[in-house]
Amino acid sequence: MQKLRIAIQKSGRLSEKSLQLLKDCGINVSNGNRTLLAAGKNFPVEILYLRDDDIPGYIADGVADVGIFGENVLLEKGNDLEIISKLGFARCRMSVAIPRNEEYSGPEFLEGKRIATSYPRILKNYLEENKVNAEIHEILGSVEIAPSIGLSGAIFDIVSTGSTLLSNGLKEAEVVLKSEAVLVGGKIKDSEKKQILEKLLFRMNAVLKGRTNKYVLLNAPNDSLDKIISILPGMKSPTVVPLADKGWSAVHSVIAEDRFWEIIDQLKEAGAQGLLVVPIEKMVI
Ligand code: PRP
Ligand code: ZN
Repeated sequence: MQKLRIAIQKSGRLSEKSLQLLKDCGINVSNGNRTLLAAGKNFPVEILYLRDDDIPGYIADGVADVGIFGENVLLEKGNDLEIISKLGFARCRMSVAIPRNEEYSGPEFLEGKRIATSYPRILKNYLEENKVNAEIHEILGSVEIAPSIGLSGAIFDIVSTGSTLLSNGLKEAEVVLKSEAVLVGGKIKDSEKKQILEKLLFRMNAVLKGRTNKYVLLNAPNDSLDKIISILPGMKSPTVVPLADKGWSAVHSVIAEDRFWEIIDQLKEAGAQGLLVVPIEKMVI
């Protein structure tokens, strides 16, 4: 019996959330102490714990079949790998940051400067696109301290909450691109492994859809039902159940997280009362 080998980050921004996603897909990993390779319980997978920067190489070499890491790493490594699915977590920006007391005039601010980064390839592209000549200084970690020790005039790095920049006297000057965790795959030849991946994707889609939607229950007077139903997107059409109280109904529906507040406001205006919002664990359409 073949097993699909999934590489995830050993420790860092993505590791807990990657494990949680697998868990939500019904895959428990037997080895909690993160030795290099662990077997998945109740699903034919093996988990390979690696440094995120190393994962694309392992997939390209066929040692891992798929991997979870940031789009930023994929862009930087430039391996010929395919994003199978965006995963919606570990969202961040890749930005140019400069000392807080300096005035940023635009990309030309960087002209002739030295910029410290762990992402030389992405930065080089950005500088070329903007026709800026600057020196790229590659360092592997703690990029944010480079300006304060006089090593560089700017940095190019990941920004998530912004607290790393803040505590190092820097400010975000330019967002170059946005990134989030992605599921990446190589060329899988084995048909058994392909089937396992299909199953995994089915589960992941159900989990990710659930995460980005909410289940909403509300009460409404029957004469405002038409209005309310026209506001609700729903999976097919909303469920409408009569209440014991004559002239009133309960309406159940699903709302996308990113449109949630806007829709809730419209529902209230249309006469909805007693709104309940419930998280969805999984959603299969
Ligand atoms: C990034 C980046 C900063 C920090 C920014 O490191 O290098 O140190 O996150 O986050 P903040 O804006 O919330 O302070 P990351 O955890 O991605 O480490 P890695 O480069 O080793 O993957
Ligand atoms: Zn990393």
